[in-house]
This record gives sequence, structure tokens and C-alpha cells, in this order.
Amino acid sequence: MENTRQETDKETQNYSEKSVYDQNIIFWENAWNMVKSPYTQLPNLGYLPRIPEIFSTQGARKILDFGCGSGWLSVYLARQGFEVIGVDVAAQAIKLAETWALQEDLKIAFDVSDIASLTYADASFDGIVANSIFEHFTLSQAESMTRKVHDMLTPDGVFVGCFDKVGGGPGEYYTLPDGTHVYTDKARKGMLLRRFSKNELTELFAHFATVEMLTVDNESLMVIARK
Ligand SMILES: C[S@@+](CC[C@H](N)C(=O)[O-])C[C@H]1O[C@@H](n2cnc3c(N)ncnc32)[C@H](O)[C@@H]1O
Repeated sequence: MENTRQETDKETQNYSEKSVYDQNIIFWENAWNMVKSPYTQLPNLGYLPRIPEIFSTQGARKILDFGCGSGWLSVYLARQGFEVIGVDVAAQAIKLAETWALQEDLKIAFDVSDIASLTYADASFDGIVANSIFEHFTLSQAESMTRKVHDMLTPDGVFVGCFDKVGGGPGEYYTLPDGTHVYTDKARKGMLLRRFSKNELTELFAHFATVEMLTVDNESLMVIARK
């Protein structure tokens, strides 16, 4: 126990925001490289219909799917007539997303990009959705992401984020001072995972004009932040 504790403290002292960020990206690229064909099913999430409802109510047409993975949410929104741009750092995830969109004859623009280096102009999107993505960043990285989200939204734009109830395994990890877990076991090596409290989310989105927070499916938190 003593040894493990010392090891954890040592790793925590040596961490840098950049290195854990980069290792998380490598984890996701490797994970997606193992997926060879698109799994063309929507996940069974009770809150799913709320996302297009929120965008429609707000009059949002052009939507960014932030960290879109293999594109199920982009496909879901494009089927309902939204103009969707999906972005993910993993080239293989985007390849799978493009294959799926092509199969359904849906026009969706997909970009391979690190969220930290996005080059979309300010006020480019009426809506931004981020499903199960902020959980893979440290608190300070999440802070820069929310600032970027705010800049990319049009003046009446709306952000919808779903934050999963995560944490505590499976697998081995050490914990950064801000509570983010950094996985060290073979299967998840490099992956960052953190659970955001309601207070942290309130602070993260404090620069938006209004913020609603709902508890949805299995204690996930949905944030609806209007610019
Ligand atoms: C848990 S998955 C969620 C994917 C999708 N939003 C969903 O709901 O299924 C997290 C996604 O974030 C992507 N990702 C991780 N770091 C990223 C970064 N720095 N820039 C862009 N995408 C990133 C991963 O490749 C992965 O597809």
C-alpha cells in the first residue's frame, strides 16, 4: 500500500498538462484503430431526443458535434435535417463516421482535428453538442474548451453537453491534484477520466448567459448553456 502511494505521488508530481493531454489522444487513436467497420446503431440513451428538441427550440440549424467519435450523434442530428459538422482527433473514428454517413446518403462534414487546435471562426455554430467528451480532459483543459465553445457559438447559440457519471475504475490509475484519473493499465493506458461535480460544471459555464443542469439517465448530468 505504502509503495503504491509513493508511486502515485511520484507520478502526480511529474505530470504536465501537455503530456497527459497528448497521452489521452494517443489512447483514443489506438482505441479507434482497433475498430474496423462502423457500428451503425444509436446508443440506448433516454435523453437523446432532448438534444434535437433543444436545438429546434433555440432555432439552431448549424451544429458542431464536438468529439464525435464514429459519428452516431452527427448521423442522428443530420437525419433530422440539421447541418452537422463532426470533429474528432482520431482519423479512424472519422473514417468510420464518413462511411456511415455515406451509407445513409447524409451530407455531414467531418474533420480530423484536435479540439485544442480548432480553426473555426468565432460565431460559426448555432449549436454545439459534446457527448461524453469533457470527461476525458483535466479541469483546466475543460476550462479552455468551454471558452472555445463560447467563442464558436453565434450570439443566440446553445451548448448541450452530457457528462457521464464516471470514475473509480475499472483498471489502474493515479489521480491528479484536480481529481482527474490517469489510467496506467494496458487496456486504458493514457486515458484521462474525471467526474465533474455540479459545482465544477456551474463554474465551468459561468460565462454563459444562462445555464440549466439536468440529471438524466443513470445520474449523468446534462448541461444546457445559452450564450
Ligand atoms: C468517449 S468518446 C465519445 C465519442 C462520442 N461523442 C460519443 O458520444 O460516442 C470520446 C471521444 O473524444 C475524442 N477525443 C479525445 N481527445 C480529443 C481531442 N483532443 N480532440 C478531439 N477529439 C478528442 C476521442 O477520439 C473519442 O472519440
